[in-house]
Amino acid sequence: MARILTGIQSTGTPHLGNILGAILPAIEMSKDAKNDSFLFIADLHSLTQIKSPQTLKENTYSVAASWLAFGLDPEKTVFYRQSDVPECSELAWYLNCFFPYQRLKLAHSFKDKSSRLEDVNAGLFVYPMLMAADILLYDANLVPVGKDQLQHLEMTRDVASRINHKFKNLFVVPEAIIREENMLIPGTDGEKMSKSKNNTIDVFQDEKTLKKIINKNIITDNIPLEAPKNPDDSNLFKLFSVVAEKDQAHQMAKNLRAGGYGWGHAKKELIELINAKFHSPREKFLHYMNNKNELDYILEIGAHKAKSVATKTLERVRNTIGY
Ligand code: ADP
Ligand code: TRP
Repeated sequence: MARILTGIQSTGTPHLGNILGAILPAIEMSKDAKNDSFLFIADLHSLTQIKSPQTLKENTYSVAASWLAFGLDPEKTVFYRQSDVPECSELAWYLNCFFPYQRLKLAHSFKDKSSRLEDVNAGLFVYPMLMAADILLYDANLVPVGKDQLQHLEMTRDVASRINHKFKNLFVVPEAIIREENMLIPGTDGEKMSKSKNNTIDVFQDEKTLKKIINKNIITDNIPLEAPKNPDDSNLFKLFSVVAEKDQAHQMAKNLRAGGYGWGHAKKELIELINAKFHSPREKFLHYMNNKNELDYILEIGAHKAKSVATKTLERVRNTIGY
């Protein structure tokens, strides 16, 4: 049996790209009865970027509601809020003291963020050690992540190995499972869909807003309605095909190539498809957002389970390093 663990930063309501690229594959993985799985909301990491208490709280809820809306089973997966297990911050401190400053200075994500963000705080710099603590605290074996997180996983392995070298086998050295980026979902502008690019599709929005966003933000060319169109050059078609079943996408490609089928028709189909496909998750999402006490309850049970593992690991660590 392997222990799978992954975290999601709570920096906003998950969009279509997050859902298809991260949420659905992780839920699929958590269903494998051979594994046990830990999934948490990295709200301590979010503090590096979010300083409004209200937003910090609200994002945690909307991320939790999204995972539950898409079928995460909190009975099978330990589902918790990072900040509910403060043992993690304590472990992060120990790891900081065993990891060379010069190595942290090489982190791509710090370089990237410090060149983009106004608030370049020390939390951003030690972010990889908090992430290492998230993983090592639970003796995780496998950590599914996107490619951008690979260096953080290498640092986790590095700090664990350094400490294991000094204090025999204190930590389980985890392995990354890299999610294939063939599921790279384009945004309304054709670039990678991302919260920071203002090109997202929020499937939890009401139907009227969704319609407005798709009609207004997805850019198409002005080939006349009657003319044949090439689906392979169309971002609208790409978006349709990542959501649609194969035969639906095939039919739309055929319609576009035949002519007499305009971008307006294609947008209408995309809107209808998203509304149909995400109807049930949207209802569930809204249910949880209107009943946050249910989210608190689920996360509290998760925190309790997580804490019982975390306290044991931390006791082992404290004893070993001299406290
Ligand atoms: P964002 O770029 O919107 O801030 P995050 O960096 O918070 O998204 O990503 C959260 C997870 O969603 C990551 O695992 C990432 O790989 C995945 N993800 C984000 N955007 C996309 C996308 N456009 N297509 C596929 N997966 C994505
Ligand atoms: N840094 C990760 C991201 O931005 C989120 C994260 C925090 C994480 N702690 C983790 C992922 C531990 C995996 C394991 O996507």
